[in-house]
Amino acid sequence: MSDRIDVLVIGSGLGGCATALAAARRGARVVMVTKAQRAEDSNTWEAQGGIIYRAEDDSPELLAADIVTAGAGLCKPEAVGILSREGPRLVDEILLREARVPFDHGTNGDLDLTAEAAHSRPRIIHRADGTGRAIEEAVLGAVRREPNITILTGRTAIDLLTLSHHSRNPLDIYAPPTCVGAYVFDQASRRVETLLARETVLATGGLGRIFLHTTNPAGACGDGVAMAYRAGARCLNMQFIQFHPTTLYHSGERFLLSESLRGEGAKLVDGRGREFMFDHHPDGSLAPRDIVARGIHQMMHETGSPCAWLDISHKDKAWILERFPTVAGKCREAGFDLTSQAIPVVPAAHYSCGGVDVDGEGRSSLHRLRAVGEVSCTGLHGANRLASTSLLECLVWGTRAGEAAAAACRSGADDYFPEIAPWEYEAEPVDPALVAQDWLTTRQTMWNYVGLVRNRRRLDRAHAILRELHMEIGRFYAKAELGDSLISLRNGVQTALVVLLAAMEMRESRGCHYRTD
Ligand code: SIN
Repeated sequence: MSDRIDVLVIGSGLGGCATALAAARRGARVVMVTKAQRAEDSNTWEAQGGIIYRAEDDSPELLAADIVTAGAGLCKPEAVGILSREGPRLVDEILLREARVPFDHGTNGDLDLTAEAAHSRPRIIHRADGTGRAIEEAVLGAVRREPNITILTGRTAIDLLTLSHHSRNPLDIYAPPTCVGAYVFDQASRRVETLLARETVLATGGLGRIFLHTTNPAGACGDGVAMAYRAGARCLNMQFIQFHPTTLYHSGERFLLSESLRGEGAKLVDGRGREFMFDHHPDGSLAPRDIVARGIHQMMHETGSPCAWLDISHKDKAWILERFPTVAGKCREAGFDLTSQAIPVVPAAHYSCGGVDVDGEGRSSLHRLRAVGEVSCTGLHGANRLASTSLLECLVWGTRAGEAAAAACRSGADDYFPEIAPWEYEAEPVDPALVAQDWLTTRQTMWNYVGLVRNRRRLDRAHAILRELHMEIGRFYAKAELGDSLISLRNGVQTALVVLLAAMEMRESRGCHYRTD
């Protein structure tokens, strides 16, 4: 493969696919890398609920108002305008007409529109409770058919290449801070590839795995934020970690119980069957997500209960099984029957509302670096994300960033490719027990001290632990044999520290950032 790429896309979820398609169709040669063995394996694949389309009596203004209300006064107006105006049109063009995602239809033949918390109208389309999977299969299919796109799986991005950090020309430190590609670890050959690109786009997804309990898949370790931060790109709103109110409480890993369950009528109740959320918000179980997650936390604290319960058993059994096959199956595996009993639930880390600061075309503060999807901060979500905006944000910003990146390549204005220092291989063996313990320390620290409820003493304690761990891992990384687990750990602890520092800086409570002091 040529070592000079037009557009390098890191990540293969909906944001990465939309970017790659838009860029390739405008003539750019695109290389998409993912650390997964199967390109499908992404945050998108796990998304259950759905994607915003439009209700019968909807308008961009109504959607914008719901986003802004959920965002607790911190949504960026330009970003809200872009998504509300362009989102439904792109769903039409790309997902419905072109990729032909098999969304569910009602008995009248129209798309089935569902509700979710804090939406004033039912405007979300879905494929049962496996919407992300249906979208990813269809869109990745389109990517695979596109001759201008090369997909490389089993490739872990290590670091972004910048003129100031990696060029062999010492005078490049005087150029504007610029990204020129990435060092990428090939898991099969265990060699490091230097991929030089005119434009680099981070589409690496979320960071939920830096917390002990999360809805996120194994790969969501905050890789993109860590790489961007080390390269000197501005990261924004990192304190706003959204906790999903309802994940299955059992001995295994937390499993998401989609908000669309509540959109379809499920009620959150305490141990006595009382709908306690009305104590906190007039919308009860359908209040904005941050309020519901804290309401559950408070109820658990006050009653000594280990969880809340989610009850949809009043609905028809056959309908539940058809509408929520994934959730029902997972509950069954864990010994619960979604159709006949209330299911124990607890909040878990779900979504990062902040990320790499970008404009309406995904452009970051680092020249030639863009970011799309959860790794980015468009400002759309403000301090708390409205449900089902995330896939739409991937589609809209992916398309816009891909188009803009292709245009930048065509303009030929940024054709400088420096000579890059070759990768220096180290040899010290990595002890898996140490890696596992460092992950556990990071995750427990973030969960206990930088979680749903924060205060200065908890944050200070976290700082003492993570600062030390970050330095220790950095020292070890510098001499260790490179591998996927070490790259992820280094990124995870870096991102945890970025989230923690942002949380320490914000003294007030707002949206998902809640302080008791
Ligand atoms: C869910 O299905 O509850 C998750 C949807 C989202 O996070 O937007």
